Amino acid sequence: MPTLSTNIDFNHTKHSLHTFAPRLLAWFETSGRHDLPWQQHQTDTPNPYIVWLSEVMLQQTQVKTVLPYFARFMNSFPTVQDLAAADWEVIAEHWAGMGYYARARNLHKGAKQLVEVINETGDFPQTLDGWEAISGVGPSTAGAIMAMGLHKYGVICDGNVKRVLTRWAGIDGDITKSATNKELWALAERLTPEDNSGLFAQAMMDMGATLCVRRSPACHLCPLREDCIAHAEGRETDYPVKAKKKPKPSKFSNALMIENDDGEILWLQRPDNGIWGGLWSLPLQFIEKVDGKTDSKVASQEQDNVATTDKQKLDVRSNDKLYEIEFTTAEQIINDWLIENNLVAKPVSNTLLDDAPIKHSLTHFHWYLQPQKLTLNGKQIAELKGKLSAADIDFKWLDKQKAQDSLGLPRAMIKIIEG
Ligand code: ADE
Repeated sequence: MPTLSTNIDFNHTKHSLHTFAPRLLAWFETSGRHDLPWQQHQTDTPNPYIVWLSEVMLQQTQVKTVLPYFARFMNSFPTVQDLAAADWEVIAEHWAGMGYYARARNLHKGAKQLVEVINETGDFPQTLDGWEAISGVGPSTAGAIMAMGLHKYGVICDGNVKRVLTRWAGIDGDITKSATNKELWALAERLTPEDNSGLFAQAMMDMGATLCVRRSPACHLCPLREDCIAHAEGRETDYPVKAKKKPKPSKFSNALMIENDDGEILWLQRPDNGIWGGLWSLPLQFIEKVDGKTDSKVASQEQDNVATTDKQKLDVRSNDKLYEIEFTTAEQIINDWLIENNLVAKPVSNTLLDDAPIKHSLTHFHWYLQPQKLTLNGKQIAELKGKLSAADIDFKWLDKQKAQDSLGLPRAMIKIIEG
């Protein structure tokens, strides 16, 4: 067992390290969740695929949201080989609505990597390092798979576990700092029993998710309360200590609903990197308020193309504020064509900024989306199609229903077309 490198001297505190696991496990036995479909810690032949898939889904999504998604994935892709062989679009359609799409991309990539390992070695990875080498698998997910998916020794230390441990041990270092994380991992290792670490991992997850919750922990039911420092101090919700994040910036986009006479709309596939990588979306005009740029750099109201790399940028001043508009190549082609044909108003408007009807919050920013509807005639459609095809752009014309049914659209896109 690794030595504890924490600066807490447990010999001189009232913490009882060796009774932590028995107390937790006794609580789990009577009060934990035992019917989650991915629980493999007590099956005779644990399935690492099930644990890997569920853990990736549970990384940023709650159990009750994950349950129906997990069932659909298992139904459509019962083995890792099925998942690896699936088309990205089918996976995107299965994932649609769960958010954080980079996870779905990593899942697909990870499935292909796992199949390679299986083809080479005859089995799933068997070591922590082997799992950490798979896309989308960090140290805690790898520990969970080792413990619950392979019945080997594995330690987890995810956000929920960190909350339990910082409270119990009174660790008041900033958990975004690596020194605090080292301390927490060392403590998690010290507390994890050699035998049946999978059961312990599942119990820790349940403790963090059901009792030792962020806002109103149920301390009266907690088997760890008698030596919990945060409880003794009456300061449970002061833990974990986390440096205050800067407020999220806001970004704004026009979302162009370019329609033909049959009610079909133009769809573009987002580039692999960046927001909604690989998913289908309406063409966007991605608008960001720019601070700190001098006026001389701005062509007022005129559109001034200022960047020539793969992502085109346009600086626009409206109502005395400066905005930068970002396009993919396809969006730039569409935008240029719309401007040439006098089909769009200026891309930035007060309406967009103050009243954008769709607000969508992502990890790094709030996104306000303004649908802009344009109906084109047959000749215009043919011309636009020609421009896109000449530039080798992948695009589709599909009506709202077909797009929803077949493209696996991000939730914000569904909100727009349903709105
Ligand atoms: N959160 C992360 N992994 C989990 C699991 N296996 N069960 C419940 N919640 C979880």
